[in-house]
Amino acid sequence: MKRARPARVKGLADLVALAHEARQRAYAPFSKFKVGAALRTRSGEIVTGCNVENASYGLTMCAERVAVFKAVSEGLREFDAIAVVADSVRPTAPCGACRQILWELCGDIVVHIVDLSGRRKRTLRMAELLPLPFDRRNL
Ligand code: THU
Repeated sequence: MKRARPARVKGLADLVALAHEARQRAYAPFSKFKVGAALRTRSGEIVTGCNVENASYGLTMCAERVAVFKAVSEGLREFDAIAVVADSVRPTAPCGACRQILWELCGDIVVHIVDLSGRRKRTLRMAELLPLPFDRRNL
């Protein structure tokens, strides 16, 4: 069966635009808090994700992890940036669980967090978001 090709774009603005688009597909009937993410490989492919909630709240999956798991399951492994878009006064940074997953599978990538208007934004690195990580070096 033919696999859908990931989008291929270059700049930060495109990455944010794709995260924005993904956010519109969020399934968030419980929190009503929609999040979109766009993860870029080092060669420029983009894989998006949105949050997918469940009536059994704990099964909810964040946008960032959806994007990472989609990418890894498509055979993509080398990443350089992720954009996360949400409608909040403070730009939404990945939750603790997502930070652990992002660190494991993406390493010290650039993380762009942006509000819905695009006015409030921050750019950080994973090493700032997860200092002193627990990872394979501990095992
Ligand atoms: N959420 C994300 O998708 N990413 C984040 O970075 C923070 C939280 C989702 C999970 C849940 O569906 C909703 O936002 C409220 O927590």
